[in-house]
Order: sequence, then C-alpha cells, then structure tokens
Amino acid sequence: MADLQSYATLFLVFLVTALLVRTLFLKSQTKVRLPPSPMALPILGHLHLLGPLPHQAFHKLSKRYGPLISLRLGSVPCIVASSPQTAKEFLKTHELAFSSRPQNIAVGHLTYGTCGFAFAPYGPYWKFMKKLCVSELLGGRTIDQFEPVRREEMRSFVKLLLEKSKAQETGVNLSRELSNLTNNVVSRMAMSKRSSRTEGEADEVRVVVQAVANLVGTFNLGDYLGFFRKFDVQGFGKRIKDVHKRFDVIMERIIKEHEEERKKEKGGNGVKDFLDTLLDISEDDNAEIRLRREDIKGFIMDLFVAGTDTSSVTSQWALSELINNPIMCEKARKEIDSVVGKNRLVEESDIANLPYLQAIIKETFRLHPASPISLRQCTQDCKIKGYDIPANASVFINLWAIGRDPKYWDNSLEFRPERFMNDQNPTDVRGQYFHLLPFGSGRRGCPGATLALQVIHATVANMIQCFTWKVGHGEGNAKVDMKEGPGLTLPRAQPLVCVPVARLHPFPCIEI
Ligand code: HEM
Ligand SMILES: *[C@@H]1O[C@H](CO)[C@@H](O)[C@H](O)[C@H]1NC(C)=O
Ligand SMILES: *[C@@H]1O[C@H](CO)[C@@H](O)[C@H](O)[C@H]1NC(C)=O
Ligand SMILES: *[C@@H]1O[C@H](CO)[C@@H](O)[C@H](O)[C@H]1NC(C)=O
Repeated sequence: MADLQSYATLFLVFLVTALLVRTLFLKSQTKVRLPPSPMALPILGHLHLLGPLPHQAFHKLSKRYGPLISLRLGSVPCIVASSPQTAKEFLKTHELAFSSRPQNIAVGHLTYGTCGFAFAPYGPYWKFMKKLCVSELLGGRTIDQFEPVRREEMRSFVKLLLEKSKAQETGVNLSRELSNLTNNVVSRMAMSKRSSRTEGEADEVRVVVQAVANLVGTFNLGDYLGFFRKFDVQGFGKRIKDVHKRFDVIMERIIKEHEEERKKEKGGNGVKDFLDTLLDISEDDNAEIRLRREDIKGFIMDLFVAGTDTSSVTSQWALSELINNPIMCEKARKEIDSVVGKNRLVEESDIANLPYLQAIIKETFRLHPASPISLRQCTQDCKIKGYDIPANASVFINLWAIGRDPKYWDNSLEFRPERFMNDQNPTDVRGQYFHLLPFGSGRRGCPGATLALQVIHATVANMIQCFTWKVGHGEGNAKVDMKEGPGLTLPRAQPLVCVPVARLHPFPCIEI
C-alpha cells in the first residue's frame, strides 16, 4: 500500500517534471520566425543595399523577397512592408503596436530633445497635440478661416508668373517659386509671417527648414552604427547643432513679437494664428498639458518640415506629368473653362466641381507620394502573416511601392487619371483605401491632408487655367525629365524650370 502510494507520488513528480522540462525545452526551441531576408554582412547588416533613394532600394528588394521582409541596418532590426495587405496589417489590424516612430539623432537634437510632435512616442503628449491639430489648428474650421490668406498668396503667385511671362524670361524656376508659395501659406497660418522684400522672416525660416529637411532626410549612419555616432564621422552632429541654433534665434524673435502684440491687444478679435493658439494654451492653468516653450518651437518646426515641401513637390510632379501628357492637360483645361469660365481664377470652392482635376491629383499621389515611406516603430512583439515582428524593430511602410503595385493597378507605371473617373465608389486618398496611401493611415496618419489637398488642387488648377507651359527654353515639345532626387520629400532630381505663356485674354484682374 505504502509502496503504491510512493509510486504514485513518484509518478506524479515525474509527470510534472517532464511537463516542466518539456515546456522549458520547447520555449527555447520556439525560434523567432522573421520575414524573409537577403544575405547580411557582418556589422553593416543590409546597410550596403540602400542607395540614396531608400524607397526604390526597398522596392527592388521586395520584388525579390516578397511584400514583407526583414533587414538589419547596422544594429537596428527593420521590417519593410510593400503591399496593400501588409500595410493594412501594420496600420489597421495591429495599429496600436505600431503607433510610435523610431527615434533618430537628427530628430532628437532638432526638436529640443522633445521629439517634437511628428516623432513623439504614442502617449499623452502626442494625443494632446493630435487633438489640438484635428479640432483646431488643422481642422476644417481653421482651414476655412484662412482661405482668404491662401487666396491672396495664390494671386500673388499667379501675378508673379504673369510678370515672368510678359518679361519672356528664359523660364521660371517652379521648384523655387512653389516652395516659396507653400512656405508663405504655412508661415502665415502658423505665425502671420510671409516673405517679402522688406520682411525676410519667412525666407529665413524657409532656408532653415530646407536645411532641417536635408538633415532629417539624409541617411545618418550614426543612427545605425554606434561607431559613427561616437565619432560623428559625417560631421552630422555639428551641422544639426548649427541649424538648430539658427532656427531657435528666428523662433525666439517671432515668439517675443507675438507676446508683445498679445500684451497690447488683450482680447483682440483678429484671426488667431497657430502661435497665438499655442501661447494661449501654454498660459492656461487648466490645460490638460502645460506646453513649454520648447514644445511650441518643436511643433512649429514639425509643421514646416512636414507641410511645406510636401505640397510644393506634389504640385511640381503634377505639372511635370501634365506637360508630358498634353492631351490630359487640355482635357483638364476644358473642364476648368466650362465650370469656372475664363473671367475669374479657380477658387478652392470650385474643386468639388472639377472631378478630372481631382483624378489628376490622385494619379500624381499614386506615382509620386511626397512622403514615400511611413516610418513606424514596433512597441510590442507581434505576429503578422505568420512571421514574428520583434519589439523595437523599425518598420518602413513603402507607400511609393504600394502605389505602383501591378496587382492593383493596370499599367501601373503609366500616368492615367482616367483610372479614377469611372470608379463606382471614388477612391479616397486619406487612408481608407490601402492601395493608395499618400497620407499614411490610422491615428498616426497625416493631420495636414485637408490643407494640403486645398493648396495642391488650387495651385495646379491656377497654373493650367492661366498658362500653357513650355519646357526649358521653350523649344519644340521637349519633355520634362521625371527622375527622382534624394531628399526627405521625393524631390525631382532636376529643378522644374519652364516658360509660362499666358492663355487668358484679357487676364482676370488680380488685385492683391
Ligand atoms: C502633399 C502633401 C503631404 C503629404 C503627401 C503628406 C504625407 C504624410 C505622411 C505619409 C505622413 C506619415 C503618416 C503615417 O505614418 O501614417 C505624414 C505625417 C505628418 N504630416 Fe503630412 N503630408 C502632407 C502635407 C502636410 C501638411 C500640409 C501638414 C501640416 C501643415 C502636414 C503635417 C504632418 C504631420 C504633423 C505629420 C506627423 C503626424 C504624426 O506623427 O502624428 N503634412 N504626412
Ligand atoms: C531652382 O530653385 C532650386 C530650389 O530653390 C535651386 O536649388 C536651384 O538651383 C534653382 N535652379 C535654377 C536653374 O535656377
Ligand atoms: C516669395 O513670395 C513673396 C510673396 O508673394 C514675394 O514677395 C517674394 O518676392 C517671393 N520670393 C521669391 C524668391 O520669389
Ligand atoms: C526595447 O528598447 C528599450 C529601450 O531602449 C529597452 O529597454 C528594451 O529592453 C528593448 N526591448 C527589446 C525586446 O529589445
């Protein structure tokens, strides 16, 4: 009897141990199953595979290894997603695990060590600023309030083109003029500044913001290799500190001016610019979050970096495509002439009645998304399509590749706005349709889409309503070169320089 009992006990002990060993053993056995990956080099990992245009390099790799691949860039584990389905897994199905962005050296230094807004970790500060963007700064009501400001800037842009066309100059550098235009729009909305011969502040901001974009857009080896970080081989750290200092000096001056104005006219009833709203919140004791001066400066910098070149570059790509596709350009002009007429300029309120213009802009976003990669960070281990995505991995969602996916788009490399004209349910570009994601998707998607769409439609419409365009020095049917250059916002490799020829006689009077 006693023997039997001790046997039973022994058996139980054995069973429990066996189970325990088994689970322990199995645990060490369950290998992490990463998505497919090319051969890696020691130390560099896959860094050598990236060229100056990472979205193109990733696209090439995805053609060979599939829509979900894993890479090691130096010491950083990375995942690349290149199809609508994989994008949806990251941006929707597992959205919460991918709602932060990886930190990098440039961002850390430039945004006052606060990560600003665009790179803020998903948490209370980001949520507070996001709410502010959606309900106030970049929300529909504020955008409407600033419509007269944009109209004024648009008119002065058209006027400049008209002068150039009269002077029969060799050409207008649209890369420069469009970036001036979008910069003026954002800087008037953000802090009531524009560039002019007397007041150079918006110009100063534009130069600094360009420098910031170059730094953030440069592939900084220090982010991936500790050695480069320690010794700053590329001189990156120094350049960042210089740019940061320049931005800070300008911002401090503008903030002081605003503070003085505010003292003078307490309760004034002009339209508040973004800086006024932010200063209000920073002084409000009941605000959910007390904004510091650094937060305000970092946020304004983010708006400039995210909001100026993106819109300018998109308008450049649209006009480039239209110059190369004269039949489509003519069709868009006919639409404008029949809806708006020839006696006044296209206004933002006309856009809803110009479906072909809208199709042109969609097609431009499909082929030339100004922010070609959505950068996210994995904050908790998860499984996607049967593969393990480890916490802390950087995730690159290749929006550029998704727009060109031949599984979704017939003749995917051709510019054909008509593809959007007979949609049963019109494709939207704001993140509902995962095969066209120029603004990303989900809670971390672009908060500036409404503003960007107004500005881009109006700009392109005015450029083709008022002028016909010739390339370079205007001879023959020269084509625009469509090569992409390196940079944060998918810039053209060559600046877009072309000759405007006024097509409206008499020209609608432009009062400034
Ligand atoms: C053609 C114009 C634009 C394009 C193509 C574009 C595209 C994008 C994309 C793809 C993202 C990342 C989304 C994601 O990760 O899912 C983004 C983020 C952002 N964009 Fe835009 N954008 C444009 C214009 C603007 C404008 C005009 C503003 C504001 C003035 C703006 C402000 C921002 C900000 C602040 C973020 C960061 C949001 C966050 O991290 O929560 N963008 N944009
Ligand atoms: C056009 O403007 C861009 C951007 O400001 C500048 O980099 C470029 O040198 C200019 N090109 C010409 C031909 O003027
Ligand atoms: C930029 O725009 C402003 C306002 O329209 C204008 O006064 C200025 O001359 C422009 N600058 C350039 C370089 O075109
Ligand atoms: C992720 O990064 C954080 C902060 O750098 C670190 O504490 C954590 O251990 C990392 N997690 C993994 C799974 O590597």
